[in-house]
Amino acid sequence: MSAPSRIALLGAGNIGSALLGGILNSGITTPDRLIATVRSPENAAALSQRLGIRVLAGENLKAIEGAEVIILAVKPLLIPRLIEEIRWGLRDDRVLVSLAASFPMETIERLMGRRLPTFRAMPNIPVLVGEGATGLAYNSDVSAEHIALVESIFRAVGTVSYVAEDQLHAVTALSGSGPAYIYMVIEAMIAGGLKMGLSHDVATRLAEQTVLGAAKLVRETGLHPAVLKDQVITPAGVTIAAVHELERHGLRSTLISAIEIATAHSRHLTAQLQDRLNPKE
Ligand SMILES: NC(=O)c1ccc[n+]([C@@H]2O[C@H](COP(=O)([O-])OP(=O)(O)OC[C@H]3O[C@@H](n4cnc5c(N)ncnc54)[C@H](OP(=O)(O)O)[C@@H]3O)[C@@H](O)[C@H]2O)c1
Repeated sequence: MSAPSRIALLGAGNIGSALLGGILNSGITTPDRLIATVRSPENAAALSQRLGIRVLAGENLKAIEGAEVIILAVKPLLIPRLIEEIRWGLRDDRVLVSLAASFPMETIERLMGRRLPTFRAMPNIPVLVGEGATGLAYNSDVSAEHIALVESIFRAVGTVSYVAEDQLHAVTALSGSGPAYIYMVIEAMIAGGLKMGLSHDVATRLAEQTVLGAAKLVRETGLHPAVLKDQVITPAGVTIAAVHELERHGLRSTLISAIEIATAHSRHLTAQLQDRLNPKE
């Protein structure tokens, strides 16, 4: 059996540290073959203590020494500086995985001055509880072995869906930003319960469990949500009265438009970033 992969994760913040936890829990590699970086020495010490792995403050070039998979998890605007720092240490057989939103693989390649097997991942914040939804795209240098390895990293913190790179804009709009929409729904359901006299605790528990349970039923039955919705509706009942009110205010069409607008905004941010990095293009 081959040794587990050496993985370096650069920029272990919210998403990065959740991925590290998932990698360790799933046994994809061992703590001695996993290394991370953050910016501040205090955060490095705290994370190292929490996860039991080496965490460096900066020193990204040192961190990628011997790493087969290099995950870029800093904020998008820091990617050019990070690539400048590590590019001399990148060997041709390394696999890059970028989490940076709105940052195309083509721009990464241009900054590196070469091509490597590269993935772009768009996870979402529930990776923190092992229930993330990640959209993955990759370039033509990636092998089946690379796909299996990178997929296992994101499967350790949720589900993986493959898309063409251009579709990552829609993934960002649907699942990347999606938790915010669902939090708004939960928030409003709690407020509705409060208005009708339920206690804060009871309203919160009922709302969160309703969203969790409804999502689980969609997954486990494989039924279309419209079919599941119909099963809750009885003629002249309570649910249809509420559903009519939601339809009157355009809940579904508002969400469809929100995803359409967010997709366009993601494209716009990518164009803006490219202008900024390469004003003449
Ligand atoms: N949050 C989301 O929902 C989400 C979803 C999909 C994709 N993404 C992408 O994931 C990436 C990370 O997002 P995040 O929310 O996890 O950000 P974050 O919590 O701000 O984490 C960024 C991390 O980068 C570290 N850092 C900054 N400069 C560094 C340097 N020079 N060398 C090494 N580490 C450095 C920071 O260290 P310190 O902690 O010491 O400052 C911090 O730990 C972004 O590119 C974002 O576009 C985020």
